[in-house]
Amino acid sequence: MLLPQEIIRTKRDGGILSEQQIAGFVDGLVTGDFNDAQVGSMAMSIFQQGMSTEEIATLTTKMMHSGDVVSWPEVDGPIVDKHSTGGVGDKVSFMLAAIVAACGAYVPMISGRGLGHTGGTADRLESIAGFNVQPSIEEFKRITKELGIAIISQTDNLAPADKRLYSIRDVTATVESIPLITASILSKKLSAGLDALVMDVKVGNGAMMQDITQATALAKSIVRVANSAGVKTQAIITDMNQVLGTTAGNALEIYETVKYLTGKQREPRLHLVVVTLAKAMLINTKIAKDDKSAQMMVDHALSSGKAAEKFSVMIAALGGPSDLIENPWGSMTKASIIKEVLAPTNGYITHMQTRDIGMAVVGMKGGRTFNGQQLDHSVGFDRILPIGTVVNKGDVLARVHANSDDLINQAASQFTNAVTINESSVEELPVIYQTIDE
Ligand code: URA
Repeated sequence: MLLPQEIIRTKRDGGILSEQQIAGFVDGLVTGDFNDAQVGSMAMSIFQQGMSTEEIATLTTKMMHSGDVVSWPEVDGPIVDKHSTGGVGDKVSFMLAAIVAACGAYVPMISGRGLGHTGGTADRLESIAGFNVQPSIEEFKRITKELGIAIISQTDNLAPADKRLYSIRDVTATVESIPLITASILSKKLSAGLDALVMDVKVGNGAMMQDITQATALAKSIVRVANSAGVKTQAIITDMNQVLGTTAGNALEIYETVKYLTGKQREPRLHLVVVTLAKAMLINTKIAKDDKSAQMMVDHALSSGKAAEKFSVMIAALGGPSDLIENPWGSMTKASIIKEVLAPTNGYITHMQTRDIGMAVVGMKGGRTFNGQQLDHSVGFDRILPIGTVVNKGDVLARVHANSDDLINQAASQFTNAVTINESSVEELPVIYQTIDE
């Protein structure tokens, strides 16, 4: 057996790890042969020294095979998923999975919990009474096969090596490492047995990657490694310098999803991200032959109500109500107090400290400050105005939903401080920055 300290020493000194050394590390993560100090040292060595594409690919594959790997022998269509690096108000997964499934793809989506200031898809789903984000793998497969869509959270059996490594990275200042993020995301995603993957790499002050150079480096790393593992992967870099859509907070984001799918409200930036990713998924799986036909399919999935129907049956199949679309608040809890946040002056909204808005949701207990914390799904913001809006003093910038006066007042002042209003406008930021194929 290779000694942990010898494997760590190789990376600490800037060497390239052999396949056998990486396998030793991943085995050690699962068996406990690498203790927490050794895992932390290894993570820090990788953080400091980096990894070659080959090393990242090996780490990803070994972590992916540390648990169950799902296969789909009886499914008659492409298996496709998307993953986002996370942001504030990022409810894209719901609309996207429903649209793509309505067009004939199979979307077995293993989603995450909130992380830091970013919300989590699995947490949002738990706003819905009865919804079970942790079905058995057999149930997950059955629902995906029957309906074309199932959105669940990570189970203990999928990429357990990542689970341990991630929890140690979280407390050893080693999260922001491109090799470690790549292997972490892809080991989980590839264990779902995908044919194709689209990555939404968020960039901006509400994202993990703050600038376009970092975002591009991460996008390239993920695309290279996933393609080398045989999964056709494209990354799209999208803006996270403001809340995506008009809401941030678990139940409020599900409500926005319902309004989007039924056509009652489609915030333009959110819509552009959804449509761009949906088209990429349809083209990469060859369901659509080109951009124009992909656009027609997406439009039809929405206008025919088929995407809304897919979402609705998936919610019911995983234990939620059968009428979420018709009566969303019948199975979700509303906060007891709503407060308007008013513009303190006339002008243009020119800037949003997006991370602070995410942290304001966490402060109202809509996100976690310790592992395993129970959330208050009802809290958050809605009616958030986008950057570029002209406002008069006293106009509503957003509304806060909370369950105590103290929390609501604190969140309202955090929101006010997070938004800048100026006399002159600024140039509009792009929503989609770049697509990375290779
Ligand atoms: N999400 C993950 O799953 N892993 C990371 O390392 C970062 C974001």
